Amino acid sequence: MRKQISNMYEAQHFKLGVFSANCSGGMAITKVEERWDATWENNIALAAMMDNAGLEFSLPIARWVGYGGDTAFQEQSLETITWATGLIGKTEKLTVFATAHSAFFHPLVAAKQFATIGEIAAGRFGLNIVCGWNQPEYDMFNLELPESHDVRYQLGQSWWDIIRRSWTSTEPFDWEDAFFKIKNGRCTPQPFLETLPPVMSAGSSPQGQAFAAKNCDFLFTVMLDIKSGQETVQTVKELAARTHKRDIDVFTTTYVVCRPTTQEAIDYHNYYAKDMADHEAVERLMSLMGMHAHSFPRDQIQSLRTNFAAGHGVYPLIGDPDTVADEIEKIALAGFGGISMSFVNYNRELPFFIQEVIPRLERKGLRVPIGTD
Ligand SMILES: Cc1cc2nc3c(=O)[nH]c(=O)nc-3n(C[C@H](O)[C@H](O)[C@H](O)COP(=O)(O)O)c2cc1C
Repeated sequence: MRKQISNMYEAQHFKLGVFSANCSGGMAITKVEERWDATWENNIALAAMMDNAGLEFSLPIARWVGYGGDTAFQEQSLETITWATGLIGKTEKLTVFATAHSAFFHPLVAAKQFATIGEIAAGRFGLNIVCGWNQPEYDMFNLELPESHDVRYQLGQSWWDIIRRSWTSTEPFDWEDAFFKIKNGRCTPQPFLETLPPVMSAGSSPQGQAFAAKNCDFLFTVMLDIKSGQETVQTVKELAARTHKRDIDVFTTTYVVCRPTTQEAIDYHNYYAKDMADHEAVERLMSLMGMHAHSFPRDQIQSLRTNFAAGHGVYPLIGDPDTVADEIEKIALAGFGGISMSFVNYNRELPFFIQEVIPRLERKGLRVPIGTD
C-alpha cells in the first residue's frame, strides 16, 4: 500500500497556490491585451514554474458558462478533472486540485474519476467540492438551482456520502434519498483510506461553513477584511472541533498586483481594473453572484466593483514586495493556513512574486526555503 502524504499538510509552510488558471481571464475581468489566455501550453508552463518554486497547489475554477462582455470572460475553461490529471503528469511535487460541482456529476461517476486520478497522482491530487450557485449553468443542464442554501448543501452532503460509501463499502449498496436513487452502487478502484485526497470545499455562507466543518480538511472562503477573516477562521475551527471532533484548515483567496514600487502596483491596478475593465462582464458576474450566492454580503457587493474587475471580488494584495509580504503575514496571523492567488497574467507576474515575495515570507518564518523542509 502506498502511503500518500500531501504537501497540503506540511505544517512549516503557509500554503501558496494559484486559482483559476484553467479559465480564460483567470479572475481579472479586463480588456488589457496581456490578460490570461488559458491554453494548455500556458498551464503547463505555469505548473512547472510553481513546481520548481515549491508552491503547494494549483486550484482550478469549475466554470461551464462564462459572463460575456467584450472579452467573453471565463467563457473558455479547461474541465477541471481532466486538466488536473494532465497537470499531475507534467509536475513532480505540486498538489493539483479538481473542482467538482456536486450537482453536475453523478456521484458514482465522480467517485470513479477521483479514485482513478488518485492512483495516478500518488498523493498529489486534491478535491475541491462546490455546491453551486450559477443560474445559467443550471439552465444549461436543465437542472433547477434550489433557492434554499440548505437544500444545495443537503444535495452536496448526499453526493459526498455516496462517494465515501462507494470508496469504503465492501459490498454493492442501494441508496435512496431526495436526490439520488442507486441500485447496486460500487466504485472500483477504491482508494485506500490512507490515500484519500485532501478534500476542500468552497463557500462562505453558514451552510457552506458547516458543510466544510463536517466533511473537509480545508474550507476555501472569501475574506473581506482581516478582522472578519479571523472571526471566520475561529468559527469554522470551533465548529469542526466541537461538533465533529475534527481539525480543519481555512484558506482564503486573493489577487496579486506586485511591482517594484507600490505606486507602480497601484497604477497598474487602476489601469487594468478601472480604465480597461470589461464593465459588461463585471456587471453580469456581480448581479448573478448578488442574486444566487452568499459569498459576499448583498449590501456590500456594489462597493466591491473595482475588486470584481480586478479579481472576481476577492481580497487584494497590491503593492511592492514588502507590502505584499506584510499583508500575507497578516492573513497568516488571522489563522488562515494558506491562500490562493490570481494574477492578470500568471506566467508574466508569478516570477517576480517568487523572486521577491517568497524570500520575505521565509524571513518572516512563514515558509522554509525549498530543500530544507
Ligand atoms: C473561494 C471560492 C472558490 C469557489 N470556486 C467555485 C468554482 O470553481 N465554481 C463554482 O461554480 N463555484 C465556486 N465557488 C462558489 C461556491 O462553491 C458556492 O456555490 C458559492 O460560494 C455559493 O455558496 P455560498 O453562499 O455558501 O458561498 C467558490 C466559492 C469560493 C468562496
